[in-house]
Amino acid sequence: MSIDPAPTVPAEPGPMIEADNLVKRYGDFEVLRGVSLAVARGQVKVIVGPSGSGKSTFLRCLALLEPVDAGRVVLEQRDVSWKVGAGGGTERRLAPYRSQLCMVFQHFNLFPHLTALQNVMVGPMHVRHTPKRQAEAEAMALLDRVRLGDRAGRYPHELSGGQQQRVAIARALAVRPRVMLFDEPTSALDPELVREVIDVMEELAAEGMTMIVVSHEMRFAHEAANAIVMMDEGEIIEEAPPDRFFTAPGHERTQRFLQLVKT
Ligand SMILES: Nc1ncnc2c1ncn2[C@@H]1O[C@H](COP(=O)(O)OP(=O)(O)OP(=O)(O)O)[C@@H](O)[C@H]1O
Ligand SMILES: [Mg+2]
Repeated sequence: MSIDPAPTVPAEPGPMIEADNLVKRYGDFEVLRGVSLAVARGQVKVIVGPSGSGKSTFLRCLALLEPVDAGRVVLEQRDVSWKVGAGGGTERRLAPYRSQLCMVFQHFNLFPHLTALQNVMVGPMHVRHTPKRQAEAEAMALLDRVRLGDRAGRYPHELSGGQQQRVAIARALAVRPRVMLFDEPTSALDPELVREVIDVMEELAAEGMTMIVVSHEMRFAHEAANAIVMMDEGEIIEEAPPDRFFTAPGHERTQRFLQLVKT
């Protein structure tokens, strides 16, 4: 009787992105006090927490827009950390990872002198050296995807806040990021424009984009998140699936926070 060879068990895939004990100081003030978070491929984690708790700082450190004092940022098993005081060559080393970790901000930050289409083309042409014609075709497809195909020639000031934010999302997608980081993407929008942006984000989540989203949009958190993460005073104090997080939060500070956002 022949013996079957041992089945080749694929190695357990590690997280797509991981923060490992991140510490960030501004002067004497420790903004991040050892923050760890792992997000698997295709997962969506929503971060909530009081103002000043370090949510934006955490995202900026993950996006490699700010150096950390200690800890590691690990992207697909690779240590891509940017440390305070890192020497020459850092910018060049980080550039390829920065385009894989794309951040969408509260205030869109579109180039005002460029049309929607040009805003979306800029990244691929500069970062990926995509030829203009191809960049244009891809940008057009992305604008269609965020339902703005008919606004491609408009300048940011000719677009509503919700439309500008969808251009910003298309612009982020254009460099084909591995992870999308959103920092309160709907909080600058009038209520009636929030839904159109959330719809686009939910589609991205459903298509398997790995996302970390700072948002107090509880409906998005319920519908799209695998886990809700509570930050307070520079620490993650709780992480739980949405159902448990909202109905039976374990931490007293989470309970207090949820009372505040509900009212
Ligand atoms: N560049 C900076 N220099 C000094 N202190 C900073 C800097 N950026 C942020 N901070 C401080 O770090 C703390 C965390 O700020 P951060 O913006 O990360 O909070 P947040 O949780 O995103 O708050 P919000 O919900 O209001 O956006 C705050 O006390 C803030 O004042
Ligand atoms: Mg913030």
